[in-house]
Amino acid sequence: MALILGIESSCDDTAAAVFDTAQQKILAYRTYSQQTHLEYGGVVPELASRSHLEKIGPVVALTLKQANCTIQDITAIAVTSKPGLAGSLLVGLCYAKGLAFARNIPLIAVNHLEGHIFSSFLNLDGTVRTEIPFPHLCLTASGGHTALYLVTDFGEFTLLGQTRDDAAGEAFDKIAKLIGFSYPGGATIEKLAREAGFRDVYTYPRNKFMSTDYSFSFSGLKTAVLYDLAKQGFVDLKTGQRTTLLTAEIQQNVASSLLICIGDIFEKTIVNALEEAQHKIEAVTFVGGVACNKYLGALLALAAERCKATLFTSPPPFCTDNAAMIAFVGAYKFTKGEIAPLDVDIF
Ligand code: KG4
Ligand code: ZN
Repeated sequence: MALILGIESSCDDTAAAVFDTAQQKILAYRTYSQQTHLEYGGVVPELASRSHLEKIGPVVALTLKQANCTIQDITAIAVTSKPGLAGSLLVGLCYAKGLAFARNIPLIAVNHLEGHIFSSFLNLDGTVRTEIPFPHLCLTASGGHTALYLVTDFGEFTLLGQTRDDAAGEAFDKIAKLIGFSYPGGATIEKLAREAGFRDVYTYPRNKFMSTDYSFSFSGLKTAVLYDLAKQGFVDLKTGQRTTLLTAEIQQNVASSLLICIGDIFEKTIVNALEEAQHKIEAVTFVGGVACNKYLGALLALAAERCKATLFTSPPPFCTDNAAMIAFVGAYKFTKGEIAPLDVDIF
């Protein structure tokens, strides 16, 4: 039996979790989401690393308390080492190294993207889902990444395609900001789209922003929305800024049309990949912050079903950045003996 402490600090969330390999369960998890970036419309790296430094100690202490254990009970420390903001990653990695060195226990370096890919294996109560078959497809969509993977086993995955520029979450965040809302904008876009009845009012172009090699261009889509708003006289193309306040109806219509467009891109991508696999793949997982979106989840579940596959989505606390997914990946790496040297670096 092993207790794995997971630590995550790759962007603007300071998180910790404890996974028990005997019970195959997350015993406790906590995420502190930094509010300091709200007024800047995006994550400010220097502020993020300072905030991690303040919060990491209390977050780890509270998580251990909630898991009813102490640092003396921990068998190994799993920590996100890449990819992410350098300063943010360094805080988590140095903290984890310090604990591992002081306690003389193994350190496990976890790729944040691997964390997201396997986050769908966690139920909301922390137990491990056993019904997701291998091989399966995984669509990861967050503020930093949008990619499609073929997943063949725990820790075994191949990139099929990814965004050529912005991530899908970034497109939601940037368009939300453009139409007058604060960062992060994904959940706001979903709320506005629901108010608009999920109508595709502007039918933004989509086919040219996805490709048969499973790559996407959400920066291209963002520009298309910008040009459309400029055509309606709401945006100055020279500055890329809004020139006037938008009515609630326009905000709802932009949000709804954007969500439907991104939904179409995801749906076509998944259907193409399942058809190319000649229906030998029976499951698709949808993970990352954007997977909190209920409209997208329902749309992709129906698309998968039409291709005789089942869609599995991570529970919302494990969609956005969290340490439960890092502790879970750390646990199978620990079992496989994948221990990192104490001089492992961030990327
Ligand atoms: O996974 P995450 O917490 O951080 C990264 O690794 O980037 O994802 C954050 C992203 C943000 O872009 C946010 O706008 C988006 O997830 N997001 C959503 C929703 N909730 C969060 N996007 C669409 N619909 C949502 N309900
Ligand atoms: Zn993430």
